[in-house]
Amino acid sequence: MELLVHYEEKPCYEIVTEINNQRLPEKLSAMSIKNRKLCIVTESNVGPLYAKKIQALLSPYAKTVILHTFPAGEENKNLNTVQDLYRDLIEHKFERSDMLLALGGGVTGDLTGYAAATYLRGIDFVQLPTSLLAQVDSSIGGKTGVDFDCYKNMVGAFYQPKLVYMNLATLKTLPEREYLSGMGEIIKHALIKDGAYYQWLMDHLSAIRERDLSILEEMICRSCEIKRAVVENDPKEKGERALLNFGHTLGHAIETRKMETADQSNAPLLHGECVALGMLASMQISKERGLIDPALCQSVKKMFLDLRLPTTVSGITADDVIQASKNDKKMEAGKVKFILLKGCGTAFIDRTVTEAEMKMALASILEEPN
Ligand SMILES: NC(=O)c1ccc[n+]([C@@H]2O[C@H](COP(=O)([O-])OP(=O)(O)OC[C@H]3O[C@@H](n4cnc5c(N)ncnc54)[C@H](O)[C@@H]3O)[C@@H](O)[C@H]2O)c1
Ligand SMILES: [Zn+2]
Repeated sequence: MELLVHYEEKPCYEIVTEINNQRLPEKLSAMSIKNRKLCIVTESNVGPLYAKKIQALLSPYAKTVILHTFPAGEENKNLNTVQDLYRDLIEHKFERSDMLLALGGGVTGDLTGYAAATYLRGIDFVQLPTSLLAQVDSSIGGKTGVDFDCYKNMVGAFYQPKLVYMNLATLKTLPEREYLSGMGEIIKHALIKDGAYYQWLMDHLSAIRERDLSILEEMICRSCEIKRAVVENDPKEKGERALLNFGHTLGHAIETRKMETADQSNAPLLHGECVALGMLASMQISKERGLIDPALCQSVKKMFLDLRLPTTVSGITADDVIQASKNDKKMEAGKVKFILLKGCGTAFIDRTVTEAEMKMALASILEEPN
């Protein structure tokens, strides 16, 4: 599939989904890479699996192709890693006309995009996303950045890629838990924008679990299309883009608290897992307000269980989560910005959710300590 993304009304970049890298040289050659240096930026898990092959594939088409590998993990999505990359680019005399390729999950895409936005005041970059989350979410929309101290995505830039090329076959090596966590964002897309897509997900759940590539292709295309439409309408998150934060107000707060309190008996949760919990909490509020059918909550819960996504969480309290949500960027003039549903496939922004409603919603997903 090829999908053209517009930015500020103008055609900006293509999203290409394939099940191999065959068309990558052609797509890059269309950007005149013949006289340009390329740097494949990747991390220590993904690099050994795919980077050398892509380097060999592209070398005949570009001036040179170098490889820069950093240690995998969110804890390395920071300015130190960006500095190491700048140094490597300077040593290899990268100029403004050269190009970075981000090969990896969301960590690699966010970090490489930010380095591309800032190196020599901006050089071109291409996204080669390899995690499900990166393919349907983080590689699209031009949000780039890194964490700073304990603050997530605190430093960054809106900077659009020149191309998003995804080889869906890379999903075959993605660890199971990471894969299922990515499904959290996909179910989010269906719930906020497309009831028919939600039904389709229910109908294809076993093929999805088995990572059947033709089903995955259809699923990823539908999700990319939803994300494309939302970011085109609202590239800088002034309005509608906030709908993508469905499940994230409380989800992020749960993620933060789980991270802060993590120990051997209380492991942190992945992002998509927290989003799943946050969506259940938001749906609880929507249900109590009479906006959605209780059967939808039951159905979503069942889908999460089938995908081994959590439906309850332990080791944290409602007060902690509410406090963490107040420290979040999604606050506006002291009001927490919530995304609620008014039916399967229709979401809206609400600024009237009270602390009592949040407590009630959290009570439905928090496990009491024994
Ligand atoms: N820019 C945005 O709009 C946006 C949106 C959502 C999330 N994000 C960011 O994305 C990041 C999360 O992304 P993620 O979940 O992809 O994390 P990630 O990049 O850490 O990847 C998850 C794990 O899977 C491994 N991995 C990735 N692809 C693989 C493959 N094909 N085979 C084997 N292992 C593979 C990685 O090494 C890592 O261990 C966060 O930093 C988050 O802030 C950004
Ligand atoms: Zn998310």
